[in-house]
Amino acid sequence: MSRTACLTVAAGVALYGASCFVVPGSAPRGAPLMNSAMADVELAFSAPAPESASTSAFSPLAMGLALGLLAAVLGGRPALAADLENGESIFLGNCAACHAGGNNSVRAEKKIKKEELITYGKYDIGAITTQVTNGYGAMPAFGEKLGPDDIDDVANYVYNKADKW
Ligand code: HEC
Ligand SMILES: *[C@@H]1O[C@H](CO)[C@@H](O)[C@H](O)[C@H]1NC(C)=O
Repeated sequence: MSRTACLTVAAGVALYGASCFVVPGSAPRGAPLMNSAMADVELAFSAPAPESASTSAFSPLAMGLALGLLAAVLGGRPALAADLENGESIFLGNCAACHAGGNNSVRAEKKIKKEELITYGKYDIGAITTQVTNGYGAMPAFGEKLGPDDIDDVANYVYNKADKW
């Protein structure tokens, strides 16, 4: 890896430390983690070993760090479990018209309770997600109306609620 690439990684680590490791309200900026991250970088830099040796020792670590940071920065937040509260409000706004109380006011036998979901092979978050996205029979599709996150949340909500209606 070239010096430039190492520098880029180092800058990334320093930035990441500065922006993410400082807990609001905690001691002055420059929390210990940031200092240690920067110290590591300095260590990696000041290693006097020949270019080839330092490259082979540093690169995998640097790449791992860089990729990890990239994921952390781009991801914004770690993949969280579905938001069941949001799922409930999506349900009330989009599904309750036909599925109030876990019932089905259009096709009474196709309730969204556990027993019926099992009977019709829909007791599965993936199957519910597909049905909500594409529609099925007399049920309208929501793929154009709801975003993927909302569909994911409402599918999880329905699945979780199926044995509780
Ligand atoms: C306009 C009425 C209507 C709305 C609104 C509606 N559905 Fe449905 N839903 C149906 C009908 C009708 C079926 C049965 C479709 C079939 O199998 O023919 C059904 C079936 C289902 C099933 C499978 C039930 C089973 O026993 O097979 C699930 C799960 C489901 N709906 C979830 C939802 C969710 C989640 C929403 C909101 C995003 C929603 N539905 C909105 C009418 C509706
Ligand atoms: C759902 O259906 C059951 C019987 O099929 C009925 O007793 C109940 O009141 C219904 N719930 C709602 C919210 O419509």
